[in-house]
Amino acid sequence: MTAAAPAARLLVRDLAQLVSAKGRTAPLRGSALDELDVLEDAYLLCEGGRIAAVGRMRDLAALDGDVEEIDGRGLCAVPGLVDCHTHPAFGGDRVDEFALRAAGASYEELHAAGGGILATVRATRAAGADGLRAAVRRHRSWMLRAGTTTWEGKSGYGLDRDTELASLEAIRDAGGVPTWLGAHSVPPEFASAEEYLDFALREVLPEAARVAEAADVFLERGAFDAGEARRFLVACREAGLALRLHGDQFTEVGAIPLAIELGARSVDHLEATGDAGVRALAASGVVGVLLPASALFLGRPMPPARALVDAGAAIALATDFNPGSSFCESLPLVCALACTQMTLSPAEALAACTVNAAHVLGRADHVGRLAPGYAADAVLLDAPDWRHLAYHLGGDLVRAVVVGGELAALR
Ligand code: NIG
Ligand code: FE
Repeated sequence: MTAAAPAARLLVRDLAQLVSAKGRTAPLRGSALDELDVLEDAYLLCEGGRIAAVGRMRDLAALDGDVEEIDGRGLCAVPGLVDCHTHPAFGGDRVDEFALRAAGASYEELHAAGGGILATVRATRAAGADGLRAAVRRHRSWMLRAGTTTWEGKSGYGLDRDTELASLEAIRDAGGVPTWLGAHSVPPEFASAEEYLDFALREVLPEAARVAEAADVFLERGAFDAGEARRFLVACREAGLALRLHGDQFTEVGAIPLAIELGARSVDHLEATGDAGVRALAASGVVGVLLPASALFLGRPMPPARALVDAGAAIALATDFNPGSSFCESLPLVCALACTQMTLSPAEALAACTVNAAHVLGRADHVGRLAPGYAADAVLLDAPDWRHLAYHLGGDLVRAVVVGGELAALR
């Protein structure tokens, strides 16, 4: 028996509101980050996986032929959310560590004692390729239910050749954008960061570059220093990968200058970034990816989002979904944190996890907006006003998710 072919066209009609960032440019900065088009009493028409038209119901022309319809009454449509920073390829969990942290242990202490990232490396190596595939698919389904339609996924919990490649392949095969986080931590079988990098760049990079679109490094005290990060990133750039950095999470040890020097796509975290870093990033083409769920989860200060936007920096928002520092797949919750903890407006938060996040993933020309020609990815919110996306803290407001013009999740 074959499944019925989906209708070539999907019409979401009678939406309370349909919302998208203005214009077509990316990344958005300054006041442009706060400018949205809001259509009331609206429709969204999808055809062949793309958006064919959006508009007011009163302007909807009669449609002939086969059209599947969704009743959008009482719902608001926003672009499918884009999560540009996740770590979904891991085995096990760190709930024991979470309980220790709740009792007062610090994340950095647990890491230094061989727990933290290295605990997940042990569990991930033990999971095997099939276990990793299942884990990534499961995490991907959580993201989808929270409204995420485009997502980046990092390796970085294998740190050996086979587990890193299995992680990247599992991410790619589940529909994610794979990033090789080949320099996440120095695994215990190597005596130094330089020895590990000798191995990773010789044995893993050539294969990883066939699957991944970008490379990433954890530039931090206790992980990789600026010289080691530069060596890793330069080799990855030569292999054709775009560059990302985890930087300024706990200490400012040169991540922003290095990201700018190497023309990285983004530098992510920035909880420890001071005024000079804010000014430097604002004057550059590097996107600052802010991860407020991670700051919340670890009890760290929030990154200086308001200062970055006001200085003219391009920012994106992401979950940092991972088992240690942010066991959170919800971009709506991240938007709530952005508004309540970092004084971004709901419009700035939405642009940061749609258009600007798509830019970080090199997809802003066709992902992140509800406009003709863009991918037909949308979230239908159970709310009379789209700003409930950030207002409904931890709320169950994702009613349906459209991916490529098809209903992918419905409640
Ligand atoms: O982005 N900071 C480095 N890496 C991850 C956390 C990894 C972990 O704790 O397992 C992050 O927060
Ligand atoms: Fe991360």
